[in-house]
Amino acid sequence: MTAVEARPASLPQQADGLVFPPGFVWGAATAAYQVEGAHDEDGRTPSIWDTFSRTPGKVAGGDTGDVADDHYHRYRDDVALMRRLGLASYRFSVAWPRITPQVTPDALGPVNAAGVAFYDRLVDELLEAGIAPAATLYHWDLPQALEDGGGWTDRRTAERFAEYAAVVARHLGDRLRTVITLNEPWCSAYLGYASGVHAPGRTEPAAALAAVHHLNLAHGLATAAVREQAPALPVAVTLNLAWVRPEDPADPADVDAARRVDGLQNRVFLDPVLHGRYPADVLADTAAVTDWSFVRDGDLALVHQPLDALGLNYYSPTVVRAWDGTGVRAEADGHGSSASSPWVGSSDLEFPEPAGHVTDMGWPVDAEGMRRLLLRLHEEAPGVPLYVTENGAAYPDVVAPDGGVHDTDRIRYVDAHLRAVHRALADGADVRGYYLWSLLDNFEWGYGYSKRFGIVHVDYDTQERTLKDSALWYADVIRRHGLGGA
Ligand code: FCB
Repeated sequence: MTAVEARPASLPQQADGLVFPPGFVWGAATAAYQVEGAHDEDGRTPSIWDTFSRTPGKVAGGDTGDVADDHYHRYRDDVALMRRLGLASYRFSVAWPRITPQVTPDALGPVNAAGVAFYDRLVDELLEAGIAPAATLYHWDLPQALEDGGGWTDRRTAERFAEYAAVVARHLGDRLRTVITLNEPWCSAYLGYASGVHAPGRTEPAAALAAVHHLNLAHGLATAAVREQAPALPVAVTLNLAWVRPEDPADPADVDAARRVDGLQNRVFLDPVLHGRYPADVLADTAAVTDWSFVRDGDLALVHQPLDALGLNYYSPTVVRAWDGTGVRAEADGHGSSASSPWVGSSDLEFPEPAGHVTDMGWPVDAEGMRRLLLRLHEEAPGVPLYVTENGAAYPDVVAPDGGVHDTDRIRYVDAHLRAVHRALADGADVRGYYLWSLLDNFEWGYGYSKRFGIVHVDYDTQERTLKDSALWYADVIRRHGLGGA
């Protein structure tokens, strides 16, 4: 064997930089409510985010997703941009209120052909451009009629979700690369029902735990429903896991605080999905809030479906300490602030102000967390291909007098995180792809349009798109299938 052949063929190292394995997927992501606009077109009915964004004081600047990036009408141009960047895959989400706009808690209602047609056109356009479509079924835009019947606190929402998933699989399943059942159920459950900074804006701790379970159930039921319709279509779920560390590893109270965050954010989703159980410590920590009687016999077996892939969304590390009775208690959530804690049953937590560089969200940067989480998933879900389904950063970008957007901080951020992915690969993690959040500046939930995550700048007055330097840089990474020297 020659020296060259002795090098692991799947992960070539070059003196001048890092090369990714053959077939590694370079992508970018968006979500329906954040980019589509066309909120009342072609039969779409309101989602909880339409209602929430119209509720005074909920979204910065009173912004709504009514128009957003007008992606609904401009998807052709946007796909052309993706092609120009060389993207191998586009992760978008399907808006449930377009697909079955008349859904009620007890019946899915008819399929809306005009709503399905939009995703048909989008998927075909992508395929024509050589870009693999990856569709998320639920990126937070629950039909309002379902929330009116209890939303994710009600088991029927999970049942309707599985029926809706079957509809999407039946219509698009032959052309999708992957279907992702849920995006970040942590946010849907705790920010939607406990801290209330996301739609539907409820602040009921017990409801948040019922939502956790019904989201897990929805994932399991939808996975089975998709497989029935489109057996060859890979099914995944996307979780925003925390790389959580105690502020003082020698202080047992801080260590316990980290355990609680790990339980509520990571294990309450990983354990049922991967192992068919709820973590005993989380059940104990939350016993005063609920007896978990919404978990019925047989549910955990339904949640525990084999996965074809696992998606990790990672932005920022988490450091936690036990609340000492003086500081700000447990309101940090990364998506706005609120007097109510998302940490149900564990509100005696405190998140120290990060020191050093933070993004425009106030989030600290440490790519090591992504490597650690990928390795954790690799160990906990052996044989399941991993994807980074979101990673990126907000910075206050402006179009410079020369017409460009010189977002060096974002390039530095993404570069560091891609290096972390490469290290995880070298350590053996089976990472198959990376989706940058986001293709476009867009509606950043409670922050409205005030935070820009895109590698493409959007002028919200004219809908003009401008490639930021990060987009040109990413195109170069894709073309070279790797990174230059450090
Ligand atoms: C994630 C969401 C995504 C976007 C990024 C910044 O939690 O999935 O829609 O808001 O954060």
